[in-house]
Amino acid sequence: MIVVLLGPPGAGKGTQGERVAAALGVPKIATGDVLRAAVKAGTPLGLEAKGYMDRGDLVPDAVILGIMKQALAAPEQARGVVLDGVVRTVPQAEGLSHVLAELGKPLDLVMLFTIAEEALVARLSGRTVCDACQTPFTGRTPGETHAECTHAPKGTLVRRKDDEPAAIHNRMAVYEAQTAPVIAWYRAHGAHIAEIDAFGALDDVTARALKAVGKG
Ligand code: AP5
Repeated sequence: MIVVLLGPPGAGKGTQGERVAAALGVPKIATGDVLRAAVKAGTPLGLEAKGYMDRGDLVPDAVILGIMKQALAAPEQARGVVLDGVVRTVPQAEGLSHVLAELGKPLDLVMLFTIAEEALVARLSGRTVCDACQTPFTGRTPGETHAECTHAPKGTLVRRKDDEPAAIHNRMAVYEAQTAPVIAWYRAHGAHIAEIDAFGALDDVTARALKAVGKG
C-alpha cells in the first residue's frame, strides 16, 4: 500500500507515520529526516538544504524529486511505503504521480491530518528530537540521552532549529501558501483522501489513522 501523509507542521505526521508503517509492514520515508541526516553529515545535499530548513522554507522541488525517485526505486519499497512530508507542492505531487506511473504502482491513499494552529504551535514549541534516530518527544529535556535509541552511539535529545518561534510562523505560512493547494490537486485528480482529526491523545489519533488504512 502506498500512502501519502499530508498536514501542517506538528500535526503528527512523523509520529503517526511510524505507527501506520509498522501496522502495514512497510517502510516510512520522511524527506525531513533524509534532509536532516544530510545536514548532519555535511553532504552536498545537506549543505544545499540547511538554509532553507533553518528558516522553515521548502527545499527546491528538483532536490525533493531526486530523493523521491531514488527512494521509491529501492527494493525495500516493493510492498508499499508511507511517504511522510514527501509531497509539499503541486509540482511534487505531479512528480510523484509520474514516478509511480513509471514504476506501475498506484497511490492508494492520501492521509490528511487536520488540527488547529494553536495546538501545533504548542506541540512544536515543546518538541525535542533524537539527533540520531529523529524520534520526536514532548515533555523531555534537551541534552538528555535518548535511552531507547537503537543507534550506536545513542542519540541526544535536541531542539530543532526550525522549532524556534520565527521559523514555526514561517512554516505555517509556507504550508498555507504552497502545501494546502496540493489537497485541492489530489481532490481534482480523484485521489482517495482520508481526513484524520489529529487533535487528541496519541493513541486516539493512531486508532483513526489505522482505521483509514484498514488496520483499525
Ligand atoms: P519535516 O521534518 O517533515 O517537518 P514538518 O512537515 O514541519 O513536520 P514536523 O516534523 O514538524 O511535524 P510532524 O507533523 O511530523 O509532527 P510530529 O510527529 O513530529 O520537514 C522539515 C523541513 O524539511 C521542511 O520545513 C522543509 O524545509 C524540508 N522539507 C521536507 N520535506 C520537504 C519537501 N517535500 N519539499 C520541500 N522541503 C521539504 O509531532 C510534533 C510534536 O507533537 C512531537 O513532539 C510529538 O511528540 C507531538 N505530538 C504528536 N502527536 C501528538 C498528540 N496526539 N498529542 C500530543 N502531542 C503530540
